[in-house]
Amino acid sequence: MSESKVSLLQSWCVCSLSLTTAIALPAPQDESKYAGDESDNDDRGNEDSFDPLHVESNDPLVITLQKELKQSRKKVKEMETKTQTILKSVRDFQTQQKSLFNKYQDLRHDYKELHENMLKMLWQEMFDDGSGAGGRDSVSKRGVDGNTGRLKYDFLALKKQDAELVEEEERVGEYDIGAIIGEGQFATVKSCYSTTKEKVLAVKIIEKKKVTSLDSLKRIDNELDVLEEVAGKHPGILTLMDVLHGETYLYMFTEKLDLDLFDFYDDHPNGVTETLGRLIILGIMEGAHFIHSRNIAHRDLKPENILLRRQKGPDGTEEYDVVLCDFGLCARVEEGTLMTDFCGSPGFFAPEMFVQGEYDGKQADVWSIGCILLELLVGHDTFGECWMTAYDSEYMKRKSGFRSEIQSAVMELKELRLPSNLSDFLQDLLSDVDGKSRPTVNSLLAHDWIMESEHGRDPQIKRRLSSLDSPVLQNRTTSRTEDAFTGR
Ligand SMILES: Nc1ncnc2c1ncn2[C@@H]1O[C@H](COP(=O)(O)OP(=O)(O)OP(=O)(O)O)[C@@H](O)[C@H]1O
Ligand SMILES: *[C@@H]1O[C@H](CO)[C@@H](O)[C@H](O)[C@H]1NC(C)=O
Ligand SMILES: *[C@@H]1O[C@H](CO)[C@@H](O)[C@H](O)[C@H]1NC(C)=O
Ligand SMILES: [Mg+2]
Repeated sequence: MSESKVSLLQSWCVCSLSLTTAIALPAPQDESKYAGDESDNDDRGNEDSFDPLHVESNDPLVITLQKELKQSRKKVKEMETKTQTILKSVRDFQTQQKSLFNKYQDLRHDYKELHENMLKMLWQEMFDDGSGAGGRDSVSKRGVDGNTGRLKYDFLALKKQDAELVEEEERVGEYDIGAIIGEGQFATVKSCYSTTKEKVLAVKIIEKKKVTSLDSLKRIDNELDVLEEVAGKHPGILTLMDVLHGETYLYMFTEKLDLDLFDFYDDHPNGVTETLGRLIILGIMEGAHFIHSRNIAHRDLKPENILLRRQKGPDGTEEYDVVLCDFGLCARVEEGTLMTDFCGSPGFFAPEMFVQGEYDGKQADVWSIGCILLELLVGHDTFGECWMTAYDSEYMKRKSGFRSEIQSAVMELKELRLPSNLSDFLQDLLSDVDGKSRPTVNSLLAHDWIMESEHGRDPQIKRRLSSLDSPVLQNRTTSRTEDAFTGR
């Protein structure tokens, strides 16, 4: 039974119980009083044969009064009978209610037990003992602090709980835990300090109690699996430094950034300049290009999952490093194979995910990048009006309705009167609503809109493009492996 059903039942019980209390009906001892009255009557024989008020008289007033008295007595008798009936049904009702309440408590108890068993199964029994059988690789190269047990699925990266780990509010292992910097569905992200590395980091803290299905456990494992693989290999992908698994929480320690793109919109309510937009989109595409080249699709690219580090350019200009995070929904893709599981967020998921029910993961990421660029250019509010509305649940009732709504939103983008190379670029990202022939991130990196800055329009971008970190002009051979999660 779901929690909401349980609480509904609970509130119903409480409400009907208080109803009974409010009526304040006579308790059982009141009933015996009625019974006593009856037996008194019986003692004196039949009511009709004995009546202390009975006076023989021909006075019409006395006769009338006697008649009325008789009738009143009859009525009282009737009412008594009715009261008895009502009392009986109230008692029945109370009994029923009590049994319902007992049933509810039993159910609740069962639910709690099931829930606890499930958590135990998920978080303890799913792990093997680390003896090697069934692991993805027999040598557990990424064991955390000698704790080598892995999940029994061979594609999983999550390690067994470290029984020794002391979890305190402000300190876990070698880390001092600080303030909250972000929150998501299962996780809270906090600032932290590594006392051994003498470095400020971020830690994503997942409360194990909230992870109650194999799907959500897989999602966490998936994120770890990918982050471990790419840690330190690209500056545009969040670098995982450490993972701890305690009794209550799971901790992912990563490099710390300054803000996410969603926060960034608050500082730029009417959108950003073409140059700044290009800088940020270029950063996102570089990260996406890197994971795509490793056959990983992110599948949840949206402002909350794009982190920024504030930089000052040499001439004091606003600059940002861009880092992709939240790899919980990412998937390994095979060339030419379509995926079918729907994921992503309204405003950003590719329409074919919903309309066709199957999609190419990398192409879906390209669409999301287009949506992000649009929001960057027009600002949060205008984006809400001209784009998000197409994703309204009203249109999502029918696949064809949704498709045509998206298509007309794309057509209207032409009315934004963007500079021609930018407009072309945006159309390349968003005009194919069926995801049949969207360009790859790789080819978009060489688009005129990106390249025009090579011809002197954006000195910042020119510098950036010619820097080591750009795959556009340079082949990246060196990588920042320092500090990265490479097996400890
Ligand atoms: N390394 C970091 N530095 C700064 N802020 C971060 C960092 N990691 C995450 N955040 C902030 O925390 C938020 C939530 O992080 P993340 O997206 O990884 O978790 P989540 O959305 O809870 O994940 P899930 O979707 O699995 O529930 C981000 O949107 C971002 O604002
Ligand atoms: C568009 O890009 C091309 C190729 O880089 C460039 O030559 C041209 O000047 C750009 N157009 C504008 C309007 O900037
Ligand atoms: C660098 O990139 C170019 C063009 O993308 C490619 O032809 C070349 O082989 C690459 N060189 C290395 C060392 O990867
Ligand atoms: Mg997130």
